[in-house]
Amino acid sequence: MSDPPGRQHDVTDDDLATQLRPATPEEWPAFVRAMSHGFGEDPSGPYLDSVPPVAEMDRSLGLWDGDRVAVTAGIYSRSLTVPGAVVPCAGITWVTVSPTHRRRGVLTAIMRRQLTELHEQQREPVAALWAAEFPIYGRFGYAPATFRGNLTGRTERLRLRPDVDLGTGRVDIVPKETYQPAATAVHERLRRFVPGNLERDQRWWDRILRDEKEDRHGATERTYLLHTEADGTVTGYATYRIKAEWTDSGEPDGTLTVEEVRATSTPAYASLWRFLLTVDLIRSVRAPLLSPDDPIRSLVTDGRALHASAIDALWVRLVDVDRALAARRYPAPLDLVIEVRDEFCPWNAGRWRVSGHPAGGYCGRTDLDPDLVLGIEELSAAYLGGVSLATLHAAGRVTEVSPGAVTLAATAFSWPVTPWCPDEF
Ligand SMILES: CC(C)(COP(=O)(O)OP(=O)(O)OC[C@H]1O[C@@H](n2cnc3c(N)ncnc32)[C@H](O)[C@@H]1OP(=O)(O)O)[C@@H](O)C(=O)NCCC(=O)NCCS
Repeated sequence: MSDPPGRQHDVTDDDLATQLRPATPEEWPAFVRAMSHGFGEDPSGPYLDSVPPVAEMDRSLGLWDGDRVAVTAGIYSRSLTVPGAVVPCAGITWVTVSPTHRRRGVLTAIMRRQLTELHEQQREPVAALWAAEFPIYGRFGYAPATFRGNLTGRTERLRLRPDVDLGTGRVDIVPKETYQPAATAVHERLRRFVPGNLERDQRWWDRILRDEKEDRHGATERTYLLHTEADGTVTGYATYRIKAEWTDSGEPDGTLTVEEVRATSTPAYASLWRFLLTVDLIRSVRAPLLSPDDPIRSLVTDGRALHASAIDALWVRLVDVDRALAARRYPAPLDLVIEVRDEFCPWNAGRWRVSGHPAGGYCGRTDLDPDLVLGIEELSAAYLGGVSLATLHAAGRVTEVSPGAVTLAATAFSWPVTPWCPDEF
């Protein structure tokens, strides 16, 4: 391979593993600037010169070219809801390789280092990330496990069904200081039931609710809504921004972007949506991060009026097949031998006996003949219950050895609640 232009030093594959090291807190200013540059953005925000509270510098990895930071990567310690349980999850982040060092195996070295350390130290059994581009991470065993809906619609066509119960609560616009603790409590009640959801402690809420002007893209600052019952209990929350626009003929044509809307009851949820769909001067509504399977699509009279165009959201990678599969629950009884192919993490390769039911799971080594053969990408995709092993089988990515094994496995690996992750990191 010829050297990319502008390279200062040779970095051979052998060097890489030893050159990668965690950045220190003192190195953060240079590190974060290199990362922003790697993502094609001007560095901005309040944490350019001090380490943000969510950052874990001891889990970062960097590579220096002289004084210049050429490579960045990091891990957040998160908790991920999986079917029937919550598991520790390594949130992979900050991944950039400078144009001077690209396509020389640096990302591969980072991926190997992270996954090997997670396995050897028996840390998180699962890793997850948001991919900047689809083709990057499959080769390392990551696969899309949740999807976002990119919902869009015209408000004149979006009416709630006449039989929708709106309850007796009220929707209020509140200051952020009121919103944050109330939304935290609602989120905490809900997130354990939705695979793909991540825990949000105070640090993460602070980050999610940061409202930098450069992130608004011409829209207003964020508006905070709470839904409150007559007895004062908060049962729902939502945030949105609006962008005023006018047609050439002088008609209002504004857009409302829903960032998040969640509630512990259907009347609260419907009430929040009724508010969001009837803001004056708004003609279009969009909700990029909501699930393609969001209940709002069943709450409106015209199901076609809210378009969903699903794209991959959270990508998942089983670090240790046995620990990960034993951690989740299975909605139907399962007892199968799967043969897993995993060249990148060879400790996962081979035959595993997987059994499970709604109250627990087990996974251990076996010499028995396999019922199914599949790669780690396919197993990771199916892990949260949102990607069907039958679909992957239809795509030729899962091999059925015992007749009926695909139907059995696809059923047992599914989950009634569609996995969904609204938290980009
Ligand atoms: C994506 C990125 C980190 C890749 O780093 P890298 O060090 O060049 O990757 P590697 O050299 O280890 O690549 C390993 C393999 O992945 C492939 N690959 C890497 N990036 C790819 C991409 N964006 N699209 C398609 N394939 C890619 C390489 O071609 C190589 O394949 P090969 O082994 O068949 O030759 C780097 O291009 C980058 O910083 N991009 C901008 C920021 C970004 O997108 N970060 C990811 C955030 S989620």
